[in-house]
This record gives sequence, structure tokens and C-alpha cells, in this order.
Amino acid sequence: MTTTRRPIYVLNGPNLNLLGTRRPEVYGTTTLADVEEAVRARAAAGGWEVEFRQTNHEGVLVDQIHEARTAGAAIVINPAAYTHTSIAIHDALEAAELPVVEVHLSNVHRREPFRHTSYVSLQADAVIAGAGALGYELAVEHLLRTLES
Ligand code: DQA
Repeated sequence: MTTTRRPIYVLNGPNLNLLGTRRPEVYGTTTLADVEEAVRARAAAGGWEVEFRQTNHEGVLVDQIHEARTAGAAIVINPAAYTHTSIAIHDALEAAELPVVEVHLSNVHRREPFRHTSYVSLQADAVIAGAGALGYELAVEHLLRTLES
């Protein structure tokens, strides 16, 4: 199915390229390529396209949010460790003025205290934590309903 809709941006922060091999007891054995495939399939079933990105660099993540601001319909973001530190990512999401869903594979609230703070949640319409890789699909599902309502 072809579409003229803007894509949903799915943005991933540092170390998520290691998904599947990095601390599988915490983050699971699903790879980021598996996540991308599942997210694309779910979005495509609803007639939406996905821009799927991963970077280990804060400024690149900011640039990608800026790109989504002009070219995207919504943002799913797992900023990984930058969740807990980055005012720049908070500010970029604020400027984007798009629906935002924040995703974490792990339940950050059951982990170290430094993971309990999120600058991103202030700009998120929904937050999904602890559902593993399924969280990304749930985020897309939520956005599809939001975008189509
Ligand atoms: C994470 C949680 C963060 O605290 C951590 O730094 C990550 C991954 C998650 O998906 O559970 O890298 O965002």
C-alpha cells in the first residue's frame, strides 16, 4: 500500500545497537533489527511508514528529532541513558510539537535511582517501560489510534 502520510520516527539512543547481546537478563534477546521489523510490520498494517534510527551520539539524536519535526507525523523514542541526563533532547522534543511516546525495554522504576528521573517524560504523551521489545509495538499501536482519531 502506498501512502503520502508522513512517517512515524522511531529513534533509539546509545548502546541500543547492542540489543540482544547486552545484558539479555535486563533487555531481552531480541535484536534492534528484530524490533525494526516488528514495528515496520505493525505500522504498515495500518498504512503507515517508519523511519527507524539508532545513534550513540546525543547531538545526532537532537538532529533526528529536528528532522522528525518537519518530516514526521509522530515520534517513538527510547533515548536510553540520555533519558536521565539530556535537557537538549527534552528541548528538541518540545520544539517538535508532535505526538511522542517514550519507550524503555526495562522497567526503569525498578532499577537504580538514577534511572527514575526522565527529562523526556515531560514531553511524552505516553510512557511504556518494562514491556521489553513489545513496548515499541505498543507505542506504534497507541500512535496509530491517536493519529487516526
Ligand atoms: C533503557 C533504560 C535506560 O536506563 C538505559 O540507560 C538504557 C536502556 C531501556 O530501554 O530500558 O540504555 O532506555
